[in-house]
Amino acid sequence: MKKRDLLSLEDWKKSDISDVIIRAEKLKRNRKTVNVLNGKTLLMLFAKPSLRTYLSFDIAMYQLGGHAIFYDLSHSTLGKKESIKDFSKVIARYSDVIMARLYEHKQIEEIAKYADVPVINGLTNYYHPCQVLGDFLTIKEKLGGFQKKKIAFLGDANNNVVHSLILEGNRTGTEIIISSPDKKEYLPNPKVIAKGKYKYIKDPKKAVKDADVIYTDTWMSYQVPKSQEKKRIKMLKPYQVNGKIFNINKKAIFMHCLPAKRGHEVTDDVIDSKRSVVYQQAENRMWSEKAVLLKCLGVKT
Ligand code: NVA
Repeated sequence: MKKRDLLSLEDWKKSDISDVIIRAEKLKRNRKTVNVLNGKTLLMLFAKPSLRTYLSFDIAMYQLGGHAIFYDLSHSTLGKKESIKDFSKVIARYSDVIMARLYEHKQIEEIAKYADVPVINGLTNYYHPCQVLGDFLTIKEKLGGFQKKKIAFLGDANNNVVHSLILEGNRTGTEIIISSPDKKEYLPNPKVIAKGKYKYIKDPKKAVKDADVIYTDTWMSYQVPKSQEKKRIKMLKPYQVNGKIFNINKKAIFMHCLPAKRGHEVTDDVIDSKRSVVYQQAENRMWSEKAVLLKCLGVKT
């Protein structure tokens, strides 16, 4: 049987996504530890910093009865002294499942090609599938479902979270509205979302008007060089989610994958408001990742 990876949501069918969300809801409802991954090891590879991905995967494994290992790629031989092929073949002999947070998406595809165990994308420059699986669980909890709902994303849309929101939204029947500067640099990368569809509305006030969710992310993703910060702040400031924008539409909830730079893409009054669900999103990373681990490992509970 072909192993199941989660590299991008493009590889997953609509039914796979709803399976994971339903399972995550059940795990969250039942709360108790299920020792179904007893004796299993998750190897976590990190080339970029992490708070939520690292902790939520580690604790998810622990609560499922398994074990997680953190491996900092800055100390590794990968791509320097050792080929991706050798690296991947070796790590797959030690572990049952691998999660990787990397820069180049191509690199995770290569690891998955050579590793004989499932590989899960914990963020690359192109995608962040685990984030949006947790986000859709949050949307379901807050809004009762995600079909026909509208998510308006404001800010830097040439972004891993946005790409995954588009891919997931297209599968679940959720409309994705992008409001960003009208320049290639800030728009979703068409090569990365394949035939993914979204609506572009340049004016942020119009974009949020009928939205159910207003979403933003950092203007300085990990791979963006510090030298671009000044220019980006100037370009993206009109897309800041502040009280003025947020209160145009009093029914929408506010979402952010975190880490947030308060005062840049979002202001305190919005992120701290009653309609902000950012901490619920962070928590739901863990429940949905438990469901992803079980699905990739083919474990039925
Ligand atoms: N777009 C952000 C997400 C961080 C979780 C980044 O890549 O830095």
